[in-house]
Formats: sequence, structure tokens, C-alpha cells
Amino acid sequence: MGKKALMVVSFGTSVPQARRAIEQVEAQLRAAFPDHDFYRAFTSGMVARKIEREEGVRIPAPAELLEQLAADDYDEVRCQSLHIIFGQEYEKLLAQLASFRDRFARLLVGQPLLWDTADYLRLTRALLAEMPRLAEDEAFLFMGHGTEHPANAAYALVENCFRYHRAERVYVGTVEGFPHLDYALARLDAHEVTRVHLAPLMLVAGDHAINDLAGDQDDSWKSRLESEGYTVETHLRGLGEFAAVGDIFVDHCRAAQAV
Ligand code: CO
Repeated sequence: MGKKALMVVSFGTSVPQARRAIEQVEAQLRAAFPDHDFYRAFTSGMVARKIEREEGVRIPAPAELLEQLAADDYDEVRCQSLHIIFGQEYEKLLAQLASFRDRFARLLVGQPLLWDTADYLRLTRALLAEMPRLAEDEAFLFMGHGTEHPANAAYALVENCFRYHRAERVYVGTVEGFPHLDYALARLDAHEVTRVHLAPLMLVAGDHAINDLAGDQDDSWKSRLESEGYTVETHLRGLGEFAAVGDIFVDHCRAAQAV
């Protein structure tokens, strides 16, 4: 029998306590593939350099890890992306994997969290199950990352799936793309909301959640909402901390396809 590796790849986070979200999904994947040796890689070089500087721990980029696995004579590498959308970071991972196609007997990759419609429906159902019951004057606003990549369209589908599950006043905005915060604010206003729950729609509750979402500076979402008169409650829990999210990644990893 050949040697098998499970390689779990996320963007990474430089916030140590936020890493528990990544660790939880990794633990679920390790449990699902007990005959594979486990390895971690981060697609963000910036995050990896910061961790090395501050914690003295070196987390490899996918290509660096693949080089090591080839040198260690692995026959099969099963790679699972922990990215949320099929955006830039996922494409970066695919490109690195493609250059190692001939180095392993089997090289497989599992899709990011939001791939087909069933994933969106599963994610939104799981989040609704964890959410407090909203009173008429309450709303829930998720902060996605957002991107210039065309995969940014995914965020609008997430919100649409909340509506499909008959959840009104559950909105999705992004830090770097569309829908933006102003659009969310306009809708909160139209629905006469007074209290807003804020949570990240990201794998980890890291830098964006701590600063852009819940930070005390004037331009954080919490501050913007409070200055508009809303009462704000923040829920700093990364998606990876929900077992149901890990289950989606495990299913994607089981269905992993040849690179
Ligand atoms: Co960012």
C-alpha cells in the first residue's frame, strides 16, 4: 500500500485564538480520513510570515508542502480547500496543485465550502439553526470577505438561500465587495430594525472580525451601526467552529477530484 497524505489548506489567520476554527475543521477531516497522514498549509504568505515572526512556527504554502510530500514518497495526496468561495485563493491553490500533477500517482482536490446550490442551502440552514430567534425589530447581518474576483457573486446567493429558508431580516454584506455595508444599512432602515446581530461569514473570526466588524474605531461595522442608532450584538465565531460547516468540507473531501 502506498503512502497517503491529507493536506488541508486554508487562507490562514495570524490571530492565534481564531485558529481554533481551522483546527476544528482539520480535526473533522482527520477523523474522516484516519489512514492518511495529516498536513496543514496556508495560501496566505503574509499570514505565514507573520506567524513565523511572532510565534516561530513555519506553516508552508501549498507548493512548499507538495514538494516535501513528493520528497517523502507519498503516492496519494488528497487536498481539501477550506476557502469559502471559488475565488482568488482557491485558484492560487489549484495552480500550485497543477504543477505537481506528475509527481504523485493520485493528486486530488476537494472544492471550497460554497460550490453547488446544495452547499449554500446547507450552510444557511446550519447557520439559522444556531442563530437566536429574531424579534420583529431585530436583524442578523453577516460580514463576508468580498473580492474583485467574479466569485464575489456567491455572497448574493447566500442571502438568497436565507430567504429560501423563510428567514427575513438576515443579510449578507462584505468588507471588500458587493453587497456593501451601505446596502445593508438601507435595508435595515426600511424594515424598522432597532437591534442588529453581527457575525463573520468567514472561516475564522480573525483580523476582519475583530477589527472591521467589532472594532472600536469609527469605521467598523459595529461603530457604523451604533452611530445610526442601532443596538449591536456581535457574535465572533468563525464558520469553521460550526460542526455542520466541517461536515460540508468532509463531504467535499470525500468527493475530491483528480487535479
Ligand atoms: Co482580507
